[in-house]
Amino acid sequence: MPPAKPVLARLLRAAADVRRNAYAPYSGFQVGAAVLAGGRIYAACNVENSSFPLGVCAERNAVAMAVAAGEKRVDAVAVVGGDARPAAPCGGCRQVLAEFAPAEAPVIYATPTGVPVAATVGALLPSAFGPADLKAAERGSRRRSSAAPSPGKRRSAARARGSRTTGR
Ligand code: THU
Repeated sequence: MPPAKPVLARLLRAAADVRRNAYAPYSGFQVGAAVLAGGRIYAACNVENSSFPLGVCAERNAVAMAVAAGEKRVDAVAVVGGDARPAAPCGGCRQVLAEFAPAEAPVIYATPTGVPVAATVGALLPSAFGPADLKAAERGSRRRSSAAPSPGKRRSAARARGSRTTGR
């Protein structure tokens, strides 16, 4: 069941509040994000650095807080940032959200004063690469290695036949 409207409103408020703590002296672009996980709200802002690439987005900081508190699943996300138009999560943050949130999890984003835009994690990152792809690859390689003999077994079988397997 998607989170109820009042919960999303609280999430948005938490994102707007924490945005005030943004450390964004280089870009001047302040962002607040809040994620709902295990029924609780984890809110964080962007934290930039004088070594520019080390700056971290608000969304990723909020997810990290939820994970540090023991959560593994994010049920909803709110982001507050932007001025003329609401700031949607950047590509990297979409990937991080997709790691922990199901495709149907709501993502709402808004300027500090504007009407929120409603999206979902799946709409923001369709055909996402995720944990399931790694598991599928692992299953595939297990299946291949049980069907075909391992390289070691192939070499010893070749030795037994008196032939060389490689140029070495
Ligand atoms: N930023 C976020 O916090 N979240 C996003 O999804 C987009 C960008 C931050 C990073 C940087 O501190 C500033 O906004 C300008 O890019």
